Amino acid sequence: MSESRHGVFGIDLGTTYSVIAYVDETGRPTVLPNGYGEQVTPSVVHFESDAHVVVGQAAKETAVVSPADVVSLIKREMGNRDYNRVFHDRNYSAPAISSLILEALAGDIQRAGFDISSVVITVPAYFGMLEKEATRQAGELAELKVAAIVPEPVAAAFAYGLGEGAADETVLVYDLGGGTFDVTIMRIGKTSIEVLAVGGNHQLGGANWDEVLFNHLLDEAVKEAGDDALRDDEFVTQAAWNDAEKVKKALSSASSRAAIVRHSGGSAKITVTREQFEGLTAHLLEQTVDVMQRTLEEAERLHPGVKDQLSSVLLVGGSSHMPAVRAAVSTALGREAKLADPDLAVAKGAALYAAGLAVRDIILPDHDSTENLPLPVESLTPLQEEKVREVVGGLLPEAALKLAERTVSNVLPKAVGIKLVDMSSPDWEQNPEEHAYVQHLVEAQTPVPHTSPAFKAGTVSANQDVIRIEIWEQAGESAGRDVQENTLLKHGDICDLRPFDLPANSPIDIFFNVNSEGLVQVTALEPTSRKEIKVEAKIQLLTQAQMDEARRNLSGLTART
Ligand SMILES: Nc1ncnc2c1ncn2[C@@H]1O[C@H](COP(=O)(O)OP(=O)(O)OP(=O)(O)O)[C@@H](O)[C@H]1O
Ligand SMILES: [Mg+2]
Repeated sequence: MSESRHGVFGIDLGTTYSVIAYVDETGRPTVLPNGYGEQVTPSVVHFESDAHVVVGQAAKETAVVSPADVVSLIKREMGNRDYNRVFHDRNYSAPAISSLILEALAGDIQRAGFDISSVVITVPAYFGMLEKEATRQAGELAELKVAAIVPEPVAAAFAYGLGEGAADETVLVYDLGGGTFDVTIMRIGKTSIEVLAVGGNHQLGGANWDEVLFNHLLDEAVKEAGDDALRDDEFVTQAAWNDAEKVKKALSSASSRAAIVRHSGGSAKITVTREQFEGLTAHLLEQTVDVMQRTLEEAERLHPGVKDQLSSVLLVGGSSHMPAVRAAVSTALGREAKLADPDLAVAKGAALYAAGLAVRDIILPDHDSTENLPLPVESLTPLQEEKVREVVGGLLPEAALKLAERTVSNVLPKAVGIKLVDMSSPDWEQNPEEHAYVQHLVEAQTPVPHTSPAFKAGTVSANQDVIRIEIWEQAGESAGRDVQENTLLKHGDICDLRPFDLPANSPIDIFFNVNSEGLVQVTALEPTSRKEIKVEAKIQLLTQAQMDEARRNLSGLTART
């Protein structure tokens, strides 16, 4: 046995708080506390100097005194290619900033005496492709081996130990975190988790509740002090922001709470009752219930009978602590919703998932461990058993096999397709952009992996060498075909057509292959020659050059909690 233990870890990289967990010697998923002994670490990054970055509670507190050096809620920017912040003369993208959070968490793992073999990082089920890839890139920048990117509600279901009974369970997970809201409807059996439908809003979370309360505190303080200039005082506003979250949390158990807003002219004491708070934020809660109802209808449309089969409603995400959430969800669905370890379930489930993947990797070393292959063995060979012990500690071999046996099948959260020009309009050639639209080739809620049926694209001129295709993803909640309602993921070229000497208007068959993690790859086939023309269309937020630049900018910078 070596000195430091190897291990696989689950990381819940949250908008507001992050959590790491692993499977301990007794086989139980366990949260690994950070350097301060806390189970959750604020996802806040303080660029202290050109060599040091501080992550966590200390960074969150620094935000009050030097807000310009601190980044919060970075997860909301993960799909944003244009996001850039400059600290100490260096540029940082969203994945680069997230990688610093991961690096700090990894440091805590190492200080606890572990070598990290691999990690599973969770993302909201409703994350699009760019955001998922950005998360993987953040892991790479932090020099972690990312075994998988897993939807948070699926991880939560793992942690909740569902599907142990004789019959399949149909479960709705309502996940209201700090920055995102997700609904997932799943069917859970002994060896499989099948996602039936997902919905959500990744700009809606506890931070929005904080914002409402923050505005209320500030309004009241301004009224009491009779000084409108308080609104522009960074120290007052940052302090009020932190107070808002404290008051909100307190109101989950207390019926009223006072906050003291200090300012240069003195201080203002503002008391907020739970009733008042619930009134001020009712519109936010309503939005989540609307999305939940719509997603359930969608699941019913795709899988008739699901609504009647619903066997449990689980509430996860820290914001589910608000009593109004449980009440509203229970009322809307006409059944009791249960709080399911809302702060830690995702990380614990990710740890179990990571352990399962590691075991799969030992048994099926030549396969991508996220492929849903049945396991060919009932028991482990002594050598396999030894390897299992190395990565998942004291997990009993039978328990390890049970974890590894579980397969997860997912759906694509957002429709994807290609941009086309409506050639039926007479003036399309003068102004093709005006007549462009997005043709969705794979609809939202399609089970993945999936290969779309051939879509025929045509060459425009004789002996054309290149066809450019653009891959677009639905941006909002509904899948409209207007370009504005979609996000460009990537463009790719079908190159080297010249040798085929194709006449104008020759069809090219385009296939969208979506893998089990929801990542798209595009292939094109020239039907007469049956030659396959690959399009380099792996979707990534940062290009190779941007990744290299990020590595350079991150080198020499150490991050810790
Ligand atoms: N007792 C409580 N009452 C109300 N809100 C709470 C309570 N405890 C935590 N929260 C809120 O929960 C949110 C954090 O939840 P969680 O850690 O699940 O989110 P996250 O993982 O950071 O975000 P996301 O999952 O959206 O990326 C914060 O907004 C926090 O203020
Ligand atoms: Mg979360």
